[in-house]
Amino acid sequence: MIPYDCYEVVPSRVVLFVFLLVVVPAGCATSRPLYPLPGRRNDKSKHPLQTFRPFNIAHRGSNGEFPEESAPAYMRAIEEGADFIESDIQTSKDGVLICIHDVTLDATTDIADHKELANRKRTYVVQGTNTTGYFAVDFTLEELKSLRLKQRYPFRDQQHNGKYQIITFEELLSIALDAPRVVGIYPEIKNPVFMNQHVKWSDGKKFEDTFVEILKKFGYKGSYMSKQWLKQPAFIQSFAPTYLTYISNLTDLPKVFLIDDVNIITEDTNQTFYEITSDKYLEYIKDFCVGIGPWKDTVVTVLDNYLHQPGDMVARAHALSLQVHPYTYRNENQFLHFNFSQDPYDEFDYWINKIGVDGLFTDFTATLHQFQEWTKPSSSSQGKNAAKLIEKIELMISKFRNS
Ligand SMILES: *[C@@H]1O[C@H](CO)[C@@H](O)[C@H](O)[C@H]1NC(C)=O
Ligand SMILES: *[C@@H]1O[C@H](CO)[C@@H](O)[C@H](O)[C@H]1NC(C)=O
Ligand SMILES: *[C@@H]1O[C@H](CO)[C@@H](O)[C@H](O)[C@H]1NC(C)=O
Ligand SMILES: *[C@@H]1O[C@H](CO)[C@@H](O)[C@H](O)[C@H]1NC(C)=O
Repeated sequence: MIPYDCYEVVPSRVVLFVFLLVVVPAGCATSRPLYPLPGRRNDKSKHPLQTFRPFNIAHRGSNGEFPEESAPAYMRAIEEGADFIESDIQTSKDGVLICIHDVTLDATTDIADHKELANRKRTYVVQGTNTTGYFAVDFTLEELKSLRLKQRYPFRDQQHNGKYQIITFEELLSIALDAPRVVGIYPEIKNPVFMNQHVKWSDGKKFEDTFVEILKKFGYKGSYMSKQWLKQPAFIQSFAPTYLTYISNLTDLPKVFLIDDVNIITEDTNQTFYEITSDKYLEYIKDFCVGIGPWKDTVVTVLDNYLHQPGDMVARAHALSLQVHPYTYRNENQFLHFNFSQDPYDEFDYWINKIGVDGLFTDFTATLHQFQEWTKPSSSSQGKNAAKLIEKIELMISKFRNS
C-alpha cells in the first residue's frame, strides 16, 4: 500500500513543496506516489465547473501537445481550460489500475528499447481479433513505471518523448483534485472483458469493482449535477453495456455509453451498431446512463472525406434526455473533413451550433476552449488572470518535484 497518511495533514501543495525541501521524511520518500493525495479538495473558493456550454473533454489529456495520458498532458489540459480530463483505465499484471489507451504498449511507450523485456511479446485475441505486442496486463506496475511514454503520431511534437512515466488511476485523480479550479474526470473502463480474462484480484474482485473502489476512496460520488458531483465531477464511460449496468449498482455517478464504428460489435453482448443505436436500445440505456459517446463519423457519416448530411442520432438521444459527447476532434489536416476548409474552428462551430452536441472529446483542449471563449464567453472572467498565475506556479512546482 502507498502510505498516503504521510500527506493527509499537509494543507496545500506549496506548503508540501517547502516541506519536502526541508524535511523529506524517510518513510515517505521512497514509496510516495507521484502525486500525493490532494490537499485542496475541500477548497470552497475553487472556480466551479462551467455548465452553461458544451463540455470541453480533454481526450487523453492535451495529447496534441504531450504524449497521451501523461501527467504533463493532463496538467496542460487543465491549464488550457478543460472541463474534464479523459482517460483510459486498464490494469497492470499486479492489479494496479493505470492510464493507457491501447492494450499494447508498443505505440505509446519506449518498450521496444527495453531489451530486458523483449521476450514478453504475446499474441492474444482482443475483441475477436488476434493482436500481437507487449500487453500492459503482462507487466507489473514496477515494470510499467520503468518505461517512458512517447507521442503516438509522427507529425506531432516529439520533444517530450522518453521523459514521462505511465501514471496510475490514483495519480490521475490526484492531478484532477489538485487543479486550482474544479476539473472533472472522465475515466473509461477499458476492455473490461479482456482485463478480467488476464488479471485476477486475490479477493475475488473484478476489474470494475476495483475501478469503483478507487473512485469512492477519492471521494467521487453523487448523481449528475448533485452537490457532491459538482464538487468532484465525473463521467464513467464504457463500450461494454453490461459493465455499465453492473457499475450502476455500485455508484450513482453518471455513466456514458460509448458507441464505436458501425462494423464493431460490443465486446460483452455481441450487439451490432444498428442495434445499440436503435430507439429501443437508447430507451433501455437511459435508465442507467446520462448520455452516449459516439464516434463522430457515426453521427454524421463520411464518404471520401466529405460529410454526408447529418442523421437523427442526436435528436433521438436528446428526445430521451440523453446527452451526446462525440469523439474525437483533432486539429490536423489528416483528421479534418474537407467540408471544414482545414479549419478546426469551423468544425467546432458545425458540431456545437448545427449538430448541438453536449460535450466534445478533443486532442486540443486549447483550441476548443478558445473557440468557446470567443463565441460563448464565460460569464465571469474575473480572477482568471490570478487563476492562470496560480496554475503556472503549480506546474513549475510539480515539474521540480518530479525531476
Ligand atoms: C488467432 O491465431 C491462431 C493461431 O494462428 C488461430 O488458431 C486462431 O484461430 C486465431 N484467432 C482469431 C480470432 O483470429
Ligand atoms: C443490480 O441490482 C439489482 C437489485 O439488487 C439486481 O436485480 C440486478 O441484477 C443488478 N444488476 C446487475 C447488472 O448486477
Ligand atoms: C456474435 O455474433 C456473431 C453473428 O451473429 C456470431 O457469429 C458470433 O459467434 C457471436 N460471438 C459471440 C462471442 O457470441
Ligand atoms: C460536405 O461537402 C460535400 C461536397 O461539397 C457536400 O456534398 C456535403 O453536403 C457537405 N456536407 C455538409 C454536412 O454540409
